[in-house]
Amino acid sequence: MSETVSTSQSLGQKRLHIKTYGCQMNVYDSERMADVLRPLGYVMSDAPEDADLVLLNTCHIREKAAEKVYSEIGRLKEMREDKEARGGGRMTIAVAGCVAQAEGAEIMNRAPAVDLVVGPQAYHQLPELIARTTRARGERLMADFAADEKFDKLPVEREVSGPTAFLTVQEGCDKFCTFCVVPYTRGAEWSRPVAQIMDEARRLADKGVREITLLGQNVNAFNGADKSGAESTLSRLIEALAGINGLDRIRYTTSHPNDMGDDLIQAHADIPQLMPYLHLPVQSGSNKILRAMNRKHTRESYIELIARIKAANPDIAMSGDFIVGFPDETDKDFEDTMDLIRQVEYASAFSFKYSKRPGTPAAAMPGQVDDKVADERLKALQALIIEQQQAFKAGLIGRTIDVLFDKRGRHNEQGIGRSPWLHSVFAEDAAHLIGQIVPVKIVALGNNSLQGELIKELV
Ligand code: 5AD
Ligand code: SF4
Repeated sequence: MSETVSTSQSLGQKRLHIKTYGCQMNVYDSERMADVLRPLGYVMSDAPEDADLVLLNTCHIREKAAEKVYSEIGRLKEMREDKEARGGGRMTIAVAGCVAQAEGAEIMNRAPAVDLVVGPQAYHQLPELIARTTRARGERLMADFAADEKFDKLPVEREVSGPTAFLTVQEGCDKFCTFCVVPYTRGAEWSRPVAQIMDEARRLADKGVREITLLGQNVNAFNGADKSGAESTLSRLIEALAGINGLDRIRYTTSHPNDMGDDLIQAHADIPQLMPYLHLPVQSGSNKILRAMNRKHTRESYIELIARIKAANPDIAMSGDFIVGFPDETDKDFEDTMDLIRQVEYASAFSFKYSKRPGTPAAAMPGQVDDKVADERLKALQALIIEQQQAFKAGLIGRTIDVLFDKRGRHNEQGIGRSPWLHSVFAEDAAHLIGQIVPVKIVALGNNSLQGELIKELV
């Protein structure tokens, strides 16, 4: 380990530490920021205390997520002082992501330790911005946040870290749910051109990626231009991607119920590479709350939509997002949400206590719910989801399912892989199968995982 460090130092390489908060798109963005900075000699490091550049890729979706950034900046400031005192050179601190976009000026005022603030549309400008901050020490920069041809300017080469990868195909959101900051931090809906996505996917497949997850804040609203300049759809994009040699699994997230077109539903019946797992947030099961949230769908239309999806592919497992404690949510409204969950039966779900976000319409709504009440509702909802999650997993015991092995476990040549429904699957003597999709018999349930056995005659 120390040898690697001294080699990198002798080559004049610099250490980059990236801390990623929030959603999968931030994970993708962090990887791409590393790609942008690699040609400048930056190598990734797990140790912030020794880093020459620390990038915080931030999330603004809930208040807690945003506040974490300021406490992390405080810790980094101390690390920077220690590093300089050790003669380790200066540490540049940069804040990227949605907090940077939403509160850029505030960060600069509130956190003088920050050298650079860069929004999600300006990553490709990082080399120039970093050069300017390090050259003119003391000059603090805020990148211009205008949406730009970011993807055209990112390097085409990506470093991959295993057989699975994210691929952003769409950004932004035009839905304006009344609780959500995304339309303000990520801007209007915008889709990448099909050819550019196909090129990135082919390169990933050439590097051994077997499973890609297409990302977008509203991914099923994808309408990127095809070769002739006409608008494509997500289902057509998936069909084209399924033709790439080696890409055996395709997923997409996150979707809005109103953009779930018949063609996309049919794709779940027709395209074997499309995994039988769908993250389709509903947020609430109460029509009154859905209206106040400006979701533009009802509980009935959501339930009917899921029936159509399950009719197209009965193997499909549902996932969702829920918010409890939205302004004016009564016990009855919450019970409607619990009832919807019982009807749909989720294989997994994410649930959150409503967080008041400045500038969003819901922040000014009357009837803000007492924190304790919201806590209790969240606990009850999560207990129900865990019950359903366990029931889904229990139904897999005794079944043989395809597992994509993607990393080593702790012992006995153990391998860890992914089920078609995104469970972690552990199997002994499977470490040599990383990168392969292999049938595994499920024998037991772990806490957050499944225990499987390889079928001996097949490996
Ligand atoms: N408070 C709580 N949860 C929120 N989400 C978005 N905004 C808020 C908020 N203000 C949740 C939604 C969304 C997920 C990404 O985060 O459930 O689908
Ligand atoms: Fe936010 Fe999703 Fe609503 Fe868009 S559709 S405003 S990203 S919750």
